[in-house]
Amino acid sequence: MTQATASLAVDSGTPVFDSPVAFMRPQLQPQDVEAAHAVLKSGMLRAAGKCAELEARFSKATGARHAMTCANGTCALQLAYAPLFERGDEVLVPAWTYVATASMLVAAGLKPVWVDSLEDTMQIDVADAAKKVTPNTKGIAATHLYGMPVDVNAIAELAKAHDLKVVYDCAQAHLSTVDGKGIGTFGDACTYSFYATKNLGTGEGGMITVNDDDLARKVALLRSHGESDKYLHESIGFNYRMNDITGAIGCSRFDRLLDETNARRAAADHYDRVLGAIDGVLPPTRTAGADSAWHLYTAKLDLDQFTCDRDTFTKALHAEGVPTAIHYPRSLTRQPAFQDFVSEANGGHPPVADTLSTKVFSLPMHHELDGPTIERIGEAVAKVAAAYRR
Ligand SMILES: Cc1ncc(COP(=O)(O)O)c(C=O)c1O
Repeated sequence: MTQATASLAVDSGTPVFDSPVAFMRPQLQPQDVEAAHAVLKSGMLRAAGKCAELEARFSKATGARHAMTCANGTCALQLAYAPLFERGDEVLVPAWTYVATASMLVAAGLKPVWVDSLEDTMQIDVADAAKKVTPNTKGIAATHLYGMPVDVNAIAELAKAHDLKVVYDCAQAHLSTVDGKGIGTFGDACTYSFYATKNLGTGEGGMITVNDDDLARKVALLRSHGESDKYLHESIGFNYRMNDITGAIGCSRFDRLLDETNARRAAADHYDRVLGAIDGVLPPTRTAGADSAWHLYTAKLDLDQFTCDRDTFTKALHAEGVPTAIHYPRSLTRQPAFQDFVSEANGGHPPVADTLSTKVFSLPMHHELDGPTIERIGEAVAKVAAAYRR
């Protein structure tokens, strides 16, 4: 055992932090509670003025023509896929994303075609997607993972060349931009989640934005039983509506969203500087022209430089008072749920996605993370890295 290893908190050494750093700060503020309370007192519990206000503000902030609240980010994906695709269509989807982006394709009777991710940005590899286009390919469902936009220009070119519809899963990318433009200006539909831990968290909740009037109408009908007039059901739909308690919390939190996002951006810049100085620890690479919302700050280990695996590394970090999370422990093609939907013909097991699951780790990220704390998180990472350096 080296002397550095002996001093690790996991080996009974003194931890860098006396008490653990907060991984996230999703707590409501008194004004959020008051906003929800006002709706409760009003008795207007269904989707009404507060949902409409959130839609208007979201559409303005993301640059999308139409924004429609819905029950959650998973419903938002269903509302996007249903009007754009037909059962049996092939849709290109990254193997490196949260389950819902792909599982809702399967739920809609669509065929996922697994696309690899770029090693540096960890976002969908559009060149790999291009190789997997067949005459049956009708769309691309790409996630702005961790909040970092994918290469939307390359996707737009691919979509144009093959007449593909594009859905962006923006569940982690509220207020992300590309070339200064709101993320809602790209693709046919964008979907968002307001799950409790998201940058704009309301408990459960979601939004879908589109830029085409006809598509907006179809989504609105699907969201509420195909109802075009009171008890007139023009088409089959669901009840995927939000409610005004959620809408009020969303509006109240929205007041702070830009400031909080900018605080995350400053924290990410600071992390990049601190981690960039530690050999074998790789800060996330940014997509050209993109400004991430930094839902997560997910770094990687160059495992060749260490004697330990990622899980041993993060366990030691945890003992130093730095909580981490793994987004994600498996590529989707390795998830039991997709075993009937993986074959050589539809992309197999994309190799970069497979290896990312062994080396990524997310560090604390939220709007209250200050510079001195990030410096000390860097100290803890450097301490663990030194202890396990090959
Ligand atoms: C990338 C991504 N897509 C979709 C979802 C699903 O959103 P929800 O949990 O609101 O259904 C999430 C939420 O975890 C997500 O992170």
